[in-house]
Amino acid sequence: MARHLITSAIPYINGIKHLGNLVGSQLPADLYARFQRARGNEVLFLCATDEHGTPAELAAAKASKPVAEYCAEMHGVQAQIAEGFRLSFDHFGRSSSEQNKKLTQHFAGRLADAGLIREVSEKQVYSNADGRFLPDRYIEGTCPNCGYDKARGDQCENCTKQLDPTDLIDPRSAISGSTDLEVRETKHLYLCQSQMKDQLEEWIDTREGWPILTTSIAKKWLTDGDGLQDRGITRDLAWGVPVKKGTEEWPGMEGKVFYVWFDAPIEYIAAAQEWVDAGKGTDWERWWRTDKGADDVRYTQFMGKDNVPFHTLSFPATILGSGEPWKLVDYIKSFNYLNYDGGQFSTSQGRGVFMDQALEILPADYWRWWLLSHAPESSDSEFTWENFQASVNKDLADVLGNFVSRVTKFCRSKFSEAVPEGGAYGPSEEALIETLTTRIRAYEGHMEAMEVRKSAGELRAIWVAGNEYLQEAAPWSTFKTDPETAAMQIRLALNLIRLYAVLSAPFIPDASAQLMQAMQTEDDSWPDDVPAALQVLEPGHAFTVPEVTFRKIADDEREGWQERFSGVRS
Ligand code: MF3
Ligand code: ZN
Repeated sequence: MARHLITSAIPYINGIKHLGNLVGSQLPADLYARFQRARGNEVLFLCATDEHGTPAELAAAKASKPVAEYCAEMHGVQAQIAEGFRLSFDHFGRSSSEQNKKLTQHFAGRLADAGLIREVSEKQVYSNADGRFLPDRYIEGTCPNCGYDKARGDQCENCTKQLDPTDLIDPRSAISGSTDLEVRETKHLYLCQSQMKDQLEEWIDTREGWPILTTSIAKKWLTDGDGLQDRGITRDLAWGVPVKKGTEEWPGMEGKVFYVWFDAPIEYIAAAQEWVDAGKGTDWERWWRTDKGADDVRYTQFMGKDNVPFHTLSFPATILGSGEPWKLVDYIKSFNYLNYDGGQFSTSQGRGVFMDQALEILPADYWRWWLLSHAPESSDSEFTWENFQASVNKDLADVLGNFVSRVTKFCRSKFSEAVPEGGAYGPSEEALIETLTTRIRAYEGHMEAMEVRKSAGELRAIWVAGNEYLQEAAPWSTFKTDPETAAMQIRLALNLIRLYAVLSAPFIPDASAQLMQAMQTEDDSWPDDVPAALQVLEPGHAFTVPEVTFRKIADDEREGWQERFSGVRS
């Protein structure tokens, strides 16, 4: 039994995430976690909310709530929506947890002891109009690297370059738009990433089979001359992990907190501790410490492409720099962006469909199927309502749903609500089994490789194979002359429903559960042996005809949603 540690990039606490965020990390991570569990492997799947930093402070201020209270509330909201999408986290933690605070301070202490932290007297942008220091992402300006004019002080969204606010050309306050900014002197801690360039480069070079999107971004920031600069890891904010050197005070750092991007990835580890402290697990170290059994863990991280530099460089620098035997990531699966109807999804502008809204309209499986089967892997992809309607209607309703409904209803009307006996397989059944075997092995390969779209394509083809078989076998006409053969065909088809439920569960868990229930079985064993898997439901085994598994989306309905989501969310 293999052991898989799986993490999804942890979503910012402020606000509800849109479908583009969902498909860029949490959803494919869930797909992989569910697949690995289905294969009988041991999985620890972790996520959390990313709660520190200015966005949280400002969102709380906007909601007129103390920031801690705001975060607790929003964590609850996000946890509930995650549940609605059936994201099967073993634990959904919080970066503001006590565990993360201690661990973050611990790492800072270790890095300091290793000589990898230096104090820098820094010039920081103060906004006279706003009466405060402006944190990096609240300064906007033109990217010195690519010329994008809405680059933020921490990172350029356009070219992914990590920035410092003083790098920006024509900076302005993102809060007030004011250009009345002045630079004041203050002391901060810097992580000496540049000293670790060789170590990081060697580590990246020895990663096998990493996706091109991941390594190319990492290598770019390593080798682009100024790629791996030392990073400021402290901020002048009230909300965050207080700067300490392990458990000791850090002279001169009073009132400062660690930068949110320093403590956020550490939460991957802290979430495992939270999982244990919540009584859901017993040993987090065997997942995270290579001296405590984690060396045979396979660790996979899922994230959007803008997160790649932090996971290939910054976080590994923290881990490697600590000199302690922490588990490093084995594979990083990163995603491009999902666009929305001719533009971009945007949280700040409220453009697109947000997770809570999606669930108001349709059950999770409809969204999961569309999003995963159109995951932005090799390039950005686009959500359009037409495409969504077409995919749902075709793949889910016409192909899968229709198969289930025809088979179960036909059996009920011509035989009974129990699996009929019938005779032996003929050549078309043998051919079907051969096709299925080939396709199921291909499906496993794609799922194992986290090729999300290819996996969806293969699963769809597996559904189609059943439909084609049914069409060709035509038990409804066979029945008239040869009820014995029709019975065999239906026995096979009913077994196929269970097989589909097992194979499809990582994509559409609710529908799968419904089909398993209709087939009145709990046998969800993976079809290593396809002929055997098609004999699980024996003659005489009772089943029920399920309610409509997937309904079609009508044109007027689609138009209504198109209209409703054409503007911006207020
Ligand atoms: N909150 C970040 C985002 O949504 C992701 C943080 S991932 C972690 O882009 F590594 F920091 F945990
Ligand atoms: Zn840029």
